[in-house]
Amino acid sequence: MATQDNNRFQAIIAHAKEYGFVFPSSEIYDGLSAVYDYGPWGSELKKNIRDYWWKSMTQLHENIVGVDAAIFMHPTTWKASGHVDNFSDPMIDNKDSKKRYRVDHLIEAHVETLSKEEGNVLIAAMDKLLAAEDFAGLKKLIEDNKIKCSISGTANWTDVRQFNLMFKTEFGAVAAEVNEDENIVYLRPETAQGIFVNFLNVQKTARMKVPFGIAQTGKAFRNEIVARQFIFRMREFEQMEMQFFIRPGTEGDWYKYWKEARLQWHLSLGIPAEKYRYHDHVKLAHYAKEACDIEFEFPIGFKEVEGIHSRSDYDLSQHQVYSKKKLQYFDNDIDETTGKPYGNYVPYVIETSIGLDRMFLLILSQAYDEEVIPREDGAAETRTVLRIPAKLAPIKLAILPLTKKDGLPEIARAIMNDCREDFYCFYEEKDAIGKRYRRMDAIGTPFCITVDHQTKEDQTVTIRYRDTMQQERIAISDLRALVKEKIR
Ligand code: GAP
Repeated sequence: MATQDNNRFQAIIAHAKEYGFVFPSSEIYDGLSAVYDYGPWGSELKKNIRDYWWKSMTQLHENIVGVDAAIFMHPTTWKASGHVDNFSDPMIDNKDSKKRYRVDHLIEAHVETLSKEEGNVLIAAMDKLLAAEDFAGLKKLIEDNKIKCSISGTANWTDVRQFNLMFKTEFGAVAAEVNEDENIVYLRPETAQGIFVNFLNVQKTARMKVPFGIAQTGKAFRNEIVARQFIFRMREFEQMEMQFFIRPGTEGDWYKYWKEARLQWHLSLGIPAEKYRYHDHVKLAHYAKEACDIEFEFPIGFKEVEGIHSRSDYDLSQHQVYSKKKLQYFDNDIDETTGKPYGNYVPYVIETSIGLDRMFLLILSQAYDEEVIPREDGAAETRTVLRIPAKLAPIKLAILPLTKKDGLPEIARAIMNDCREDFYCFYEEKDAIGKRYRRMDAIGTPFCITVDHQTKEDQTVTIRYRDTMQQERIAISDLRALVKEKIR
């Protein structure tokens, strides 16, 4: 079963590349580990997921507004947020060469020298220890496997210690006399801090009243230690986050509310509930008071796709301390117990944080199907189809003239012109119609229409539904409304 699922995962990765969804980054140079590019249909699908999230958070919630903060932030942001001190992974030093290794890199380099089977066993043992943050166990694993430093050739290792996951870079011109630390900026490891530092700007300019939320989508960067799972764990990825600012004391209720609301958002895409589960955190991140993951059953098992975190007033209070600026809200609602306004306070926060790339992988994993279709001659053929929810599909409607002549392309082009303002259409006249249908199935196009000779007689076309492969004739005049209704 496990092997089969791994086969399915590999098939999805191959399909994503072959059909223009996801490519390894800078592939002509053999790629860059855990970095990926999105192709023509991948970038459409990703945009549609992002838009669906954004609309449900902002347009459909009167009390949530958006921001688009810069990736670069003042370096003190990350001191205040706790990321400089707490956001780390294990590393080890060789005492003779003084060379420092990330534990996973060291072990992976050793795996290259082993047989496939031995290597897999070692990687599995490493992943287990990394997940358990068992640093003594990792050191023992390195020693037991007699892993040596490539420079000194010795196995004289320090204890395993933590390694910060933030990428650093330098800002502006670096003059020799300037203290280098002053020029260091980080690539943000989460988008959330761009929301916290703008809390008062947004609250005042958009005249928001607690409870209210600020949403943001954008890139985040982490120098991930275990990064071998396609776009599940990347070093450059995109987050869709929302910080919901509330009155202290109401966090229990709002945490429950967002936990449920976010699962409902997933289910609204028609994905079966049994593919999801909650995982309540026992070990909490440095900022969290209560936290859970929404997990999805990927082909590689149940894994986190989204986190809901009760962050208390940790971030705003920390930014108050480090910036020496007040980040408070004046609440003039009346507190029933005292009969007086609630007054000034630092709001508490419930965060919802979902990885866009992980949601993309979720959609691909759920959509990918190799359907066996019996043929009339008794044999069977396999149809590879992406059953992507119609509202997220990269192309909504394929317009296919049966032949390249007899005026059919002209009618098809006129339909295309009529529809493409409303949704993404794709025109194709090359190859047999069956082949064109299969290509559209493989990229998840929910509707294809064929323009044929009958169209010239009665202004109808054949519409073919991706999931059932059923076909029916409909009037051209009804087509646009039908597709719009299905993708709503
Ligand atoms: N602001 C809170 C935060 O960043 P997180 O649990 O570290 O929390 C939130 O990340 C979500 O971001 C995860 O649920 C996951 O979907 C996504 N994510 C985190 N690290 C990722 C990575 N290396 N590659 C892809 N997605 C990632």
